[in-house]
Amino acid sequence: MDRSKLALTLALVFSTALPLGAQALTLKTPAAVDLPFGDPEFPAGPNVDAVNAGCLTCHSVDHVLNQPSLSKAGWTEVVEKMVKGYKAPITEEDQAKIVDYLVTIKGIK
Ligand code: HEC
Repeated sequence: MDRSKLALTLALVFSTALPLGAQALTLKTPAAVDLPFGDPEFPAGPNVDAVNAGCLTCHSVDHVLNQPSLSKAGWTEVVEKMVKGYKAPITEEDQAKIVDYLVTIKGIK
Protein backbone atom coordinates (compact mmCIF):
# COMPACT_ATOMS: atom_id res chain seq x y z
CA MET A 1 0.00 0.00 0.00
CA ASP A 2 1.53 3.32 -0.99
CA ARG A 3 1.34 6.43 1.16
CA SER A 4 -1.58 8.07 -0.60
CA LYS A 5 -3.72 4.92 -0.34
CA LEU A 6 -2.85 4.60 3.34
CA ALA A 7 -3.81 8.21 3.95
CA LEU A 8 -7.10 7.69 2.13
CA THR A 9 -7.87 4.52 4.13
CA LEU A 10 -7.11 6.28 7.39
CA ALA A 11 -9.24 9.23 6.38
CA LEU A 12 -12.13 6.87 5.58
CA VAL A 13 -11.77 4.95 8.84
CA PHE A 14 -11.79 8.11 10.94
CA SER A 15 -14.57 9.84 9.05
CA THR A 16 -16.88 6.83 9.51
CA ALA A 17 -15.74 5.82 12.99
CA LEU A 18 -16.12 9.25 14.58
CA PRO A 19 -19.79 9.83 13.82
CA LEU A 20 -20.58 6.26 14.94
CA GLY A 21 -18.74 6.82 18.18
CA ALA A 22 -20.58 10.07 18.75
CA GLN A 23 -23.90 8.35 18.08
CA ALA A 24 -23.18 5.53 20.53
CA LEU A 25 -22.36 8.13 23.14
CA THR A 26 -25.63 9.98 22.58
CA LEU A 27 -27.64 6.78 22.90
CA LYS A 28 -26.00 5.90 26.20
CA THR A 29 -26.95 9.25 27.75
CA PRO A 30 -30.41 8.89 29.32
CA ALA A 31 -32.86 11.74 28.76
CA ALA A 32 -34.11 11.47 32.36
CA VAL A 33 -33.10 9.52 35.42
CA ASP A 34 -35.88 7.37 36.81
CA LEU A 35 -35.54 6.96 40.54
CA PRO A 36 -36.98 3.77 42.00
CA PHE A 37 -39.12 5.81 44.39
CA GLY A 38 -42.28 7.79 43.76
CA ASP A 39 -42.32 11.55 43.41
CA PRO A 40 -39.39 13.24 45.12
CA GLU A 41 -41.63 16.06 46.36
CA PHE A 42 -45.23 16.49 47.48
CA PRO A 43 -47.77 17.52 44.81
CA ALA A 44 -48.44 21.25 44.58
CA GLY A 45 -50.83 22.68 47.12
CA PRO A 46 -51.09 25.32 49.83
CA ASN A 47 -47.98 25.39 52.07
CA VAL A 48 -46.33 22.59 50.12
CA ASP A 49 -42.92 24.12 50.92
CA ALA A 50 -43.39 23.49 54.63
CA VAL A 51 -44.35 19.88 53.93
CA ASN A 52 -41.38 19.25 51.64
CA ALA A 53 -39.04 20.80 54.19
CA GLY A 54 -40.54 19.12 57.25
CA CYS A 55 -41.67 15.68 56.18
CA LEU A 56 -39.09 14.39 53.68
CA THR A 57 -36.09 14.16 55.98
CA CYS A 58 -37.21 10.80 57.36
CA HIS A 59 -39.48 9.23 54.77
CA SER A 60 -40.77 9.46 51.23
CA VAL A 61 -43.77 11.24 49.77
CA ASP A 62 -45.41 7.85 49.17
CA HIS A 63 -45.01 6.85 52.79
CA VAL A 64 -47.18 9.82 53.74
CA LEU A 65 -49.66 9.78 50.83
CA ASN A 66 -50.26 6.03 50.75
CA GLN A 67 -52.13 6.33 54.02
CA PRO A 68 -55.88 6.48 54.44
CA SER A 69 -57.36 9.98 54.27
CA LEU A 70 -57.76 11.61 57.67
CA SER A 71 -59.75 14.37 59.28
CA LYS A 72 -58.07 17.55 60.46
CA ALA A 73 -57.88 16.07 63.97
CA GLY A 74 -56.36 12.89 62.52
CA TRP A 75 -53.62 14.74 60.60
CA THR A 76 -52.93 16.97 63.61
CA GLU A 77 -52.35 13.81 65.62
CA VAL A 78 -49.97 12.35 62.99
CA VAL A 79 -47.95 15.57 62.75
CA GLU A 80 -47.76 15.83 66.56
CA LYS A 81 -46.60 12.22 66.70
CA MET A 82 -43.81 13.03 64.20
CA VAL A 83 -42.70 16.03 66.25
CA LYS A 84 -43.12 14.73 69.81
CA GLY A 85 -42.57 11.03 69.17
CA TYR A 86 -39.91 11.06 66.47
CA LYS A 87 -38.38 14.51 67.14
CA ALA A 88 -39.15 15.97 63.71
CA PRO A 89 -37.67 19.49 63.85
CA ILE A 90 -40.77 21.42 62.73
CA THR A 91 -41.90 24.76 64.21
CA GLU A 92 -45.46 25.12 65.54
CA GLU A 93 -46.22 27.56 62.73
CA ASP A 94 -45.12 25.00 60.13
CA GLN A 95 -47.02 22.21 61.86
CA ALA A 96 -50.26 24.17 61.35
CA LYS A 97 -49.35 24.81 57.69
CA ILE A 98 -48.58 21.12 57.17
CA VAL A 99 -51.88 20.04 58.70
CA ASP A 100 -53.72 22.47 56.37
CA TYR A 101 -51.90 21.03 53.38
CA LEU A 102 -52.60 17.42 54.35
CA VAL A 103 -56.28 18.14 54.99
CA THR A 104 -56.50 19.83 51.56
CA ILE A 105 -54.93 17.02 49.56
CA LYS A 106 -55.65 14.00 51.76
CA GLY A 107 -58.47 14.97 54.06
CA ILE A 108 -61.82 13.31 54.62
CA LYS A 109 -64.36 15.30 52.68
C1 HEC B 1 -37.69 12.75 62.46
C2 HEC B 1 -38.15 11.82 61.46
C3 HEC B 1 -39.54 12.05 60.89
C4 HEC B 1 -40.03 13.17 60.30
C5 HEC B 1 -39.32 14.49 60.04
C6 HEC B 1 -41.38 12.87 59.90
N1 HEC B 1 -41.68 11.57 60.23
FE1 HEC B 1 -43.39 10.60 59.78
N2 HEC B 1 -42.66 8.90 60.58
C7 HEC B 1 -41.44 8.78 61.21
C8 HEC B 1 -41.30 7.44 61.74
C9 HEC B 1 -40.09 6.90 62.48
C10 HEC B 1 -42.49 6.77 61.42
C11 HEC B 1 -42.88 5.35 61.73
C12 HEC B 1 -42.38 4.53 60.57
C13 HEC B 1 -42.97 3.17 60.57
O1 HEC B 1 -43.75 2.83 61.45
O2 HEC B 1 -42.65 2.46 59.60
C14 HEC B 1 -43.32 7.71 60.68
C15 HEC B 1 -44.56 7.40 60.16
C16 HEC B 1 -45.38 8.28 59.50
C17 HEC B 1 -46.69 7.98 58.97
C18 HEC B 1 -47.34 6.61 59.00
C19 HEC B 1 -48.47 6.54 59.98
C20 HEC B 1 -48.03 6.58 61.41
O3 HEC B 1 -48.72 7.27 62.18
O4 HEC B 1 -47.04 5.93 61.78
C21 HEC B 1 -47.19 9.11 58.44
C22 HEC B 1 -48.54 9.32 57.77
C23 HEC B 1 -46.18 10.14 58.63
N3 HEC B 1 -45.09 9.60 59.25
C24 HEC B 1 -46.33 11.45 58.22
C25 HEC B 1 -45.38 12.43 58.41
C26 HEC B 1 -45.60 13.81 58.07
C27 HEC B 1 -46.87 14.39 57.47
C28 HEC B 1 -44.45 14.47 58.37
C29 HEC B 1 -44.19 15.96 58.26
C30 HEC B 1 -44.93 16.72 59.27
C31 HEC B 1 -43.51 13.49 58.91
N4 HEC B 1 -44.13 12.27 58.93
C32 HEC B 1 -42.23 13.78 59.31
C33 HEC B 1 -40.47 9.75 61.31
C34 HEC B 1 -40.58 11.04 60.83
